[in-house]
Amino acid sequence: MLTKVTVVGAGNVGATAAQRLAEKNLARTVVMLDIVEGVPQGKALDQWQSGPVEGFDTRIIGTNDYEAAAGSEVFVVTAGIARKPGMSRDDLVRTNAGIVKSVSEQIKRVAPNAIVIVVSNPLDVMCYVAMKGTGFPRERVLGMAGVLDTARYRMFLAEAMNISVEDIQAMVLGGHGDTMVPLISYTTVSGIPVTQLLAHDKLEAIVARTRNGGAEIVAHLKTGSAYYAPSAAAVQMVEAIALDKKRILPCSAWLQGEYDLRDVYCGVPCKLGRGGLEQILQVQLTDQERKDLIASAEAVRATQKTVDAG
Ligand code: NAI
Ligand code: 2OP
Repeated sequence: MLTKVTVVGAGNVGATAAQRLAEKNLARTVVMLDIVEGVPQGKALDQWQSGPVEGFDTRIIGTNDYEAAAGSEVFVVTAGIARKPGMSRDDLVRTNAGIVKSVSEQIKRVAPNAIVIVVSNPLDVMCYVAMKGTGFPRERVLGMAGVLDTARYRMFLAEAMNISVEDIQAMVLGGHGDTMVPLISYTTVSGIPVTQLLAHDKLEAIVARTRNGGAEIVAHLKTGSAYYAPSAAAVQMVEAIALDKKRILPCSAWLQGEYDLRDVYCGVPCKLGRGGLEQILQVQLTDQERKDLIASAEAVRATQKTVDAG
């Protein structure tokens, strides 16, 4: 169990993540921090009061002050604005880059040894902003997207085959956007290649639906974006770190030559443990998957450059 985890942003993703962190007893204290006065305080008190019912002793503290977050071992950064219908993730870039930069500078000040899990969009570029803002090494600045995108892919496959989600092993790599790369070659059902169980056209339709997974939910909600699955995905990453599980999860990581990519954040298979990003696994890809991964990373790089240009 960690001593303190801070969730920055007490909106839909942040507040749901805080509740999940407490319910899983992953930290003695969960701090929920937001710029809006009263909202983190009210939500945190409400959540803490669910402890006697849910059976957790985690203290949930709502605040507008970074001093309460001092010494946190892990930060989950969800601060920012979310997508509205018709908006792409990249439309969020300017506003959220400013927010994530200021949040990162505060994290560096109050918790210089922390591990940062970024959730704010556009995800891969916000990781870059957080790495620059904190000055932390790549081992301690990671992005959550691949766990969510893979969960969506697994759910769609389970639905199509009428089987348990638990028996589907899969990995979605690449940037968190329309160019993401679900790896059909590594998709199995209890070890059986999925291509033996599902027709090619059905698989392709599921890949397309996965790429559109966030937008599908925005189209339903109309006033915001997904948060139940995103918060579950972020908490799975915290859990891997808190419990030093050495899990292999797809995360956005700063690439330094892996997959022939350099100086860009992109979703790749990562080993997560108490040290944060402990290893990037380099797996064999088909020619098409490799091309798609590079194209996806280059799309991230293009947005990354707009951040550099200010
Ligand atoms: P939301 O609008 O419900 O919550 C955002 C919160 O951030 C608000 O409470 C707001 O007051 C707060 N905030 C704004 N500026 C802040 C600052 N400087 N410091 C602290 N808090 C600040 O949005 P939601 O649905 O929680 O989404 C949050 C972010 O996560 C969005 O950028 C969204 O696009 C992204 N997202 C990313 C996913 C991924 O897979 N990486 C999945 C789902 C959402
Ligand atoms: C999602 O994929 C909006 O990035 C967010 O749901």
